[in-house]
Amino acid sequence: THQWRGIIEEYRDRLPVSDSTPVVTLREGGTPLVPAQVLSERTGCEVHLKVEGANPTGSFKDRGMTMAISKAKEEGAKAVICASTGNTSASAAAYAVRAGMVSAVLVPQGKIALGKMGQALVHGAKILQVDGNFDDCLDLARALSDNYPVALVNSVNPVRIEGQKTAAFEIVDMLGDAPDIHVLPVGNAGNITAYWKGYKEYAADGIARHTPRMWGFQASGSAPIVRGEVVKDPSTIATAIRIGNPASWKFALAARDESGGLIDEVTDREILRAYRLLASQEGVFVEPASAASVAGLLKAAEQGKVDPGQRIVCTVTGNGLKDPDWAVAGAPQPVTVPVDAATAAERLGLA
Ligand code: F0G
Repeated sequence: THQWRGIIEEYRDRLPVSDSTPVVTLREGGTPLVPAQVLSERTGCEVHLKVEGANPTGSFKDRGMTMAISKAKEEGAKAVICASTGNTSASAAAYAVRAGMVSAVLVPQGKIALGKMGQALVHGAKILQVDGNFDDCLDLARALSDNYPVALVNSVNPVRIEGQKTAAFEIVDMLGDAPDIHVLPVGNAGNITAYWKGYKEYAADGIARHTPRMWGFQASGSAPIVRGEVVKDPSTIATAIRIGNPASWKFALAARDESGGLIDEVTDREILRAYRLLASQEGVFVEPASAASVAGLLKAAEQGKVDPGQRIVCTVTGNGLKDPDWAVAGAPQPVTVPVDAATAAERLGLA
């Protein structure tokens, strides 16, 4: 009787749903806010990780998707479509199954992690690999939803943002107030838009005493907001945020400017360093794009931009199991031993 009910039931009064909205849920949200010991030591701050990989399909997308699919069902849609670097498609496919709908997903050819492709496939999505990048996929998804009977469930759909803002609510509910700084990876810029909306709503209603500064980090090879111009051929190992023309660009700038925050870039090397630190020192396995938030925090700390004593939350957006190639790459192959305790003990350095 005490199970978390999913974000629509937990935050119903703050979401655009009514009694006639069919709630399509996998009980998303309610994710762990984990104190980060090593990051706290390194920065002299109180750092927490919002572990969104603990959502039902392994990423924060489920918060937006329960809303998008519920509203699409309410409106009578039979089919949904999205463009995706992988996580949105995995989530859309799963929630479409719950709703009895058909899902269609458009992904950039050869540029989505295998785990995410597997999810879309096993949930029965109709998948097209597009000979182009994410931005091309989104153009195509918009054209199809404009001209054919299929509902668009990308974060350009405002109800996605409504669902995703609940992560900010959970953080304030847990900490008793907003953090001083909130750090996020930025791709299409929907999530930073959503958190900022959530924090502003709680502050406006006096549930939080203040709003945090919003810090967003793009991958250097895919950093249009930092550069101030569209990146035609975005590149990064963090395929989830390999986006050259973010749909919510102007909302990300508003979140930055209204909050007194920043949007900066981190290199793939910095991302992988943070990725390994999270796994090997905090015990939290995330996908590379998720580590961009932590990489950004560490970079800012090294630049002297982080005053000690602050409360900081980093969202880690997706589960490491989605893209395990980076965990295995460069790691030594485990040795094989016979069924013999003495040999095993010796190889483990116990003897
Ligand atoms: N982290 C992960 C793991 C993501 O999958 C995404 C976006 C982001 C961060 C960036 O969030 O786009 O709201 O700024 N993934 C989308 C997708 C684009 O298709 O799954 P954003």
